Amino acid sequence: MAARKLGVVMNGVTGRMGYRQHLVRSVLAIREQGGVALSDGTRVQLDPLLVGRSATKLREIAERHDLPRWTTDLDAALADADYPVYFDAQVTQVREKSLLKAMDAGRHVYAEKPSAESLAAALELARHARRAGVKNGVVHDKLYLPGLMKLKRLVDSGFFGRILSVRGEFGYWVFEGDWQPAQRPSWNYRAQDGGGIALDMFPHWNYVLENLFGRVRAVTARVATHIPQRWDEQGRRYEATADDAAYAIFELDDGVIAQINSSWAVRVNRDELVEFQVDGTEGSAVAGLHRCRAQHRTLTPKPVWDPDLAETLRFRDQWQEVPDNALIDNGFKVQWEQFVRHVVEDAPNPYDLLSGARGVQLAEAGLRSSREGRRVELTELTA
Ligand SMILES: NC(=O)c1ccc[n+]([C@@H]2O[C@H](COP(=O)([O-])OP(=O)(O)OC[C@H]3O[C@@H](n4cnc5c(N)ncnc54)[C@H](O)[C@@H]3O)[C@@H](O)[C@H]2O)c1
Repeated sequence: MAARKLGVVMNGVTGRMGYRQHLVRSVLAIREQGGVALSDGTRVQLDPLLVGRSATKLREIAERHDLPRWTTDLDAALADADYPVYFDAQVTQVREKSLLKAMDAGRHVYAEKPSAESLAAALELARHARRAGVKNGVVHDKLYLPGLMKLKRLVDSGFFGRILSVRGEFGYWVFEGDWQPAQRPSWNYRAQDGGGIALDMFPHWNYVLENLFGRVRAVTARVATHIPQRWDEQGRRYEATADDAAYAIFELDDGVIAQINSSWAVRVNRDELVEFQVDGTEGSAVAGLHRCRAQHRTLTPKPVWDPDLAETLRFRDQWQEVPDNALIDNGFKVQWEQFVRHVVEDAPNPYDLLSGARGVQLAEAGLRSSREGRRVELTELTA
């Protein structure tokens, strides 16, 4: 049986995320595999309509991937009834306006995180979606990282006993852009353009923490701009006005304490660019993007503090690898499939604009905590 078609307006496909993760690794990969499988065994094939500001770049991408439809006219794309879904991977600052426009046109909306720059705007988006009666979703790709999926498996199995704490280290050195080009867009380092590591990463930490360990109830954070000047894509020097590091303590349900350092000004001495250590009464685990290693209570060695002796124990060798036990697909693609099922057959999708708003709430609370030098409690949000 021929697959049904679902038209998707894709805005921001000339960007880093929009092109690589959403167009190539998700939508085109889904097309390649023959569409998204539904619960009744039929399939839905995706039909992307690319939208952006530069006709030259869009034409080039469309030709490279043999895609017939692209336009620089968002209004026209949203007026086309053959495209009931709107996806947004533009820079954060312009997302809110486009999402509102898409919802007003009756489109289901799916968006990169953060859903908006402020909690007020993010919450209004969630409320607008409810009023408009459209399906909605926000990217939460980190949940599908193989390392975090294995960690979740350990959590669900009860391996940890009572979970005590979570310690996360995220970061790497982002070059300033003078003698070596920066590996991230320059807007990330300008507050006035929607940049900052707290706004970028806290939305991720929020859904990771709440899905694995429990809701975040309070935050104490200190952000910093360690590198005050950088060089942009054109080689021009600019003032870095946004935070490039955030050191935070998150208080979760059931007394779990999570402490996560996020930094673009740190050199990596870890196995992976992000790692979380979880300690529980019955066992501990360290999970990264791909790997997850665990140590059970019964296998825990007994180190003794003695500064006079050189350490002979090889602590990292005392952990056991958690096996994949499954084929783990690209997280962005998995979430696209989940969202398509949500749109087409009403399958559940807990990662909606309200969940996205909680992520923005955490970022905003972290920045306030830093500014005011105090712990900030989070209130329950409703759409
Ligand atoms: N899920 C993740 O892991 C992840 C990772 C990085 C970025 N992001 C998010 O994805 C979004 C895009 O980030 P990126 O790193 O791809 O950025 P990018 O700068 O590479 O791409 C931004 C896109 O927005 C477009 N754009 C820029 N300014 C615009 C304007 N004024 N009006 C309309 N369009 C404009 C660009 O043409 C480009 O298509 C951001 O919201 C960011 O927070 C998510």
